[in-house]
This record gives sequence, structure tokens and C-alpha cells, in this order.
Amino acid sequence: LKYSTARFVASYGEPEQLPEPTEPEIAFCGRSNVGKSSLLNKLVGRKALAKVSSQPGRTANVNFFEVDGVAFVDLPGYGFARVSKAERKRWSNLIGGYFEQNRSFNLVVALVDIRLDAQQLDRQMLGFLQERELPFIVALTKADKLGRNKQSQQRASLARQFCIDPEAMVITSSQTGLGIDEIRRRIQRAVDD
Ligand code: GTP
Ligand code: MG
Repeated sequence: LKYSTARFVASYGEPEQLPEPTEPEIAFCGRSNVGKSSLLNKLVGRKALAKVSSQPGRTANVNFFEVDGVAFVDLPGYGFARVSKAERKRWSNLIGGYFEQNRSFNLVVALVDIRLDAQQLDRQMLGFLQERELPFIVALTKADKLGRNKQSQQRASLARQFCIDPEAMVITSSQTGLGIDEIRRRIQRAVDD
């Protein structure tokens, strides 16, 4: 994929607004603040294509980008407590609504913070992807916060906790660029299939 062609397409706040899938689709999901927007920016080599914030809950909509004829979808983060109940409900409807649709899921990149042991909401998310047999990989984020040995220990441990093949887990850092080429390769493979 020619990542330099990346552009923002549209932002949707309600699942009913989502456009019909007309091109291959790569979705990014994960807890609020896990680093979805940062990973997307790093993949396309742009600082601020997707909005990044130290405050969780920054991406409140489903944002569509286009990269060389492939849709990249930045989903709102789940699990952020400090918003109103109504807003949380809107988010979960939005994420749920997206996954309930008959979309062309070429690959779901599920992001998980490498520093934390398996969180309940991540278990649910990954369980859902496994149950639906959607093609997915796990990007373990913020690896720059751990040393090399600790990184691979955590990968093995999280693979066990989530019952996922460690091969499906890529250690990444949007800060150092670790694992970014590997994510690009997996995306390419999913698009070519
Ligand atoms: P929401 O849109 O709220 O769901 O968050 P998000 O998952 O899009 O996270 P975002 O990319 O906005 O990043 C959240 C915070 O984590 C920001 O302060 C980022 O700078 C930081 N961050 C993201 N990726 C990394 C990383 O690889 N390493 C480090 N050290 N910090 C990171
Ligand atoms: Mg975001």
C-alpha cells in the first residue's frame, strides 16, 4: 500500500450513517487511550492525520480514512469511565453497530496495552472477534515503556491469558516505530488475500 496517499474521508457518530463497504477495510479497535490514533498516524507516516490526545475518549466517532484504495477505520475507544452514561451508550452502540454490519473485514487490528494484564473489556473484544471468526491481529502498544525481555514475557503471558496464538500478537511502539513494518506486512497480506 502507498501510505503516502492516506487521507481523511469522513466521521460518523451513529451506526446508521456508516457507508456501505465498497473497498477492503482495516479496522482499529481497543480501549480508550490505548494508542489507536497514534498507531494509525505512525502507519501512514503522518503526525496528525488522526487526532491523538493524552486525554482518553478523544476519538468519539468512527473515523474513516482511505489509504491507496483501502478503508482504514479508527473506532472510538471503549472502557472510558469519565463520560456520561448516555455518551457511553452511544459509543458502545456505535462500535457494536459497526461490527454487526455486513462489512468487508479484511483485518481487525485490536490494540492492547502491553503493560497491563488481560482486562475484562479486552477479553470481551477479543472473544467477540474469535467467536465471529473475524480475521484479526493484536497490536501490543506502548512497548517503549518496557525493556526487551519484559516485552516478550508480556506477549507470551497475554497470549495465554487471551487464548490467542502469540504469532497473532505484534509488539509495537508508535513512539519508536517498533513493529510498524510488521503491522504493514500483515495489513498487506490481508488486503491481498
Ligand atoms: P481514544 O481516541 O481516546 O480512544 O485514544 P487512542 O486509542 O486513539 O489513543 P491515542 O493515540 O490518542 O494515544 C493516547 C495517549 O497515549 C497519547 O498521549 C499518546 O501520545 C500515547 N501513546 C500512544 N502510543 C504510544 C506509544 O507507542 N508509546 C508511548 N509511550 N505512548 C503512546
Ligand atoms: Mg483515538
